[in-house]
Amino acid sequence: DQSLRNLALRHGLAVGTAVDMAALDDPADPQYRQLAASEFSTVTAENVMKWESLEPTRGTYNWEPADRLLAFAKQNNQRVRGHVLVWHNQLPGWLTAGVADGSISNAELRDILRRHITAVVTHFRGRIWQWDVVNEAVSDPWDTPSTLHYKGFWAEHLGPGYIADAFRWARAADPHALLFYNDYNIEAFGSRDPANDKTQFVYDMAKKLLAQRVPIDGIGSQGHLGTQYGNFDTFQVAEALRKFAGLGLATAFTEVDVRSQLTEGVQAGDPNEVNPRLQAAAANFSVLLQACLAERHCLSFTVWGFTDKHSWVPGWFSDPPEGLATIYDENYQPKRAYQLMKADLIYS
Ligand code: G3I
Repeated sequence: DQSLRNLALRHGLAVGTAVDMAALDDPADPQYRQLAASEFSTVTAENVMKWESLEPTRGTYNWEPADRLLAFAKQNNQRVRGHVLVWHNQLPGWLTAGVADGSISNAELRDILRRHITAVVTHFRGRIWQWDVVNEAVSDPWDTPSTLHYKGFWAEHLGPGYIADAFRWARAADPHALLFYNDYNIEAFGSRDPANDKTQFVYDMAKKLLAQRVPIDGIGSQGHLGTQYGNFDTFQVAEALRKFAGLGLATAFTEVDVRSQLTEGVQAGDPNEVNPRLQAAAANFSVLLQACLAERHCLSFTVWGFTDKHSWVPGWFSDPPEGLATIYDENYQPKRAYQLMKADLIYS
């Protein structure tokens, strides 16, 4: 069995994918379901565990799609990453509208968040391996102001203390799930502007949380990369993982994909032809995977979708168009990235 999940077993590593429920449910697309089961040992809901999906109407939870994914995972002997408890995106309209029109006060908002975390973690108790408790709470150097800060809806209304609260509420509802902080642009230390190094900011945040005895178990590094941005090397990435491990934290790559601009040449021809961008994408997947393999505390390596047929990238980046971000092409043919991941798992 040369599947990614089986090759990773020897390393004690889980290999995962985000799952798009519409694709999983589509009877006309059986390969999606088949590969999701055969290649991966952990799954993440791409959307159906987000607040807007779980509680579209206030007080009425719709667990059905998420429960169906968990049944799929159980059937295929897969572990589940829970995504996501607290994020500023994909919040239900009733919540954001209520805050905007003043009918939900900040005190009530905090209570609503506590009840949401408790309800969700309790519903899935015992079935989730790692929870993304707080997602993308930290700004980027290109935001305004450029000095790194806690950004977004939750920090604006509740202040940064919501982060510690969220972890405590999650732990109380399921003491056995591993609780993660999850973010992008934290693959390596060493921003050119040392005062604005997001990895350092997240490291300092985690250290402070631990000093306050906040129950945080791990750091999820999303790994959304692009071939136009230049590459990390394995040493840089492994060093970031090692520093987080030095705090006593687990790590995981949680949303890896490597997008490319779709200009002439990139779209043309056999996806396995030697194409600089596909090669560069493959190399980026490999750097993150090798770093994870080198670090014992790196528990899982999850790709954010496994086929270009179902990837968030083209819908999100249209000017200029980007895509080709995953490890299989639109016809489920494995790309260089898939081959290189396999080689890393075999030869490491
Ligand atoms: O649910 C509606 C559906 O009813 C409608 O027909 C359809 C038409 O566009 O839109 C559907 O909602 C879309 C949803 O995905 C489900 O497909 C939203 O428009 C679209 O914005 C949403 O995008 C998701 C994105 O998060 C939004 O925040 C992507 O699928 C998902 O891959 C992406 O995932 C995030 C992680 O959660 C956190 N890290 C970054 C990552 C990439 O942005």
